Amino acid sequence: MTSPDRNRPNPPASIVFRPARPTDGAALWQLVRATGTLEANSAYAYVLLATDFADTCLVAERGGALVGAVIGYHPPREPDTAFVWQVGVRPDCQGQGLGLRLLRHWQALPAQAGRRWVTATVAEDNAASQALFRRFAHALGAGCQVHPHFPAELFPAGHAAEPLYRIGPIPHAALVPG
Ligand SMILES: CC(C)(COP(=O)(O)OP(=O)(O)OC[C@H]1O[C@@H](n2cnc3c(N)ncnc32)[C@H](O)[C@@H]1OP(=O)(O)O)[C@@H](O)C(=O)NCCC(=O)NCCS
Repeated sequence: MTSPDRNRPNPPASIVFRPARPTDGAALWQLVRATGTLEANSAYAYVLLATDFADTCLVAERGGALVGAVIGYHPPREPDTAFVWQVGVRPDCQGQGLGLRLLRHWQALPAQAGRRWVTATVAEDNAASQALFRRFAHALGAGCQVHPHFPAELFPAGHAAEPLYRIGPIPHAALVPG
């Protein structure tokens, strides 16, 4: 007898969002390299971030594999702000709303309590990232201001300028992901 389920495709595994832990470091490094756009730092840097900054780093897993991440920290001189250092989605998972979900879950982490502003620098030639942060601000019902921040001259030749995106103030009602 044939099982009625045999010809049905398996439903895609759901995505789990959770704070990072030290054992994520190597996978974070691989994810960043796989995006092809993000500037990859050393594997050591990602182990360090997933350890000392674990409360402000978020990973998304599907079927036990890392499919996206937000690496962030709290700027020492800005007690009301959380900074997104890198956000990346595995190439085969891009364009499906995961980037926005990542930022919303990251912004709702317990460690972000009281942080009414989110900042990030976005390279002038990164259209996907620009669209993502504007979409994130819209989803929160918050403003999004863009200011000059890191001009191209601060970087080695060939690196685009990185203006600062400042999103907020984040309404209290927006603190839980939709
Ligand atoms: C930037 C990135 C994280 C976006 O993730 P994603 O899952 O593809 O984004 P989403 O599907 O959630 O889309 C969010 C918004 O950005 C827009 N967007 C996504 N990719 C885009 C692209 N290539 N060009 C223009 N807009 C784009 C979407 O249309 C959506 O806006 P909308 O809802 O108004 O239509 C992903 O493209 C990525 O990992 N890129 C490489 C790494 C990188 O550049 N990171 C950012 C610098 S730190």
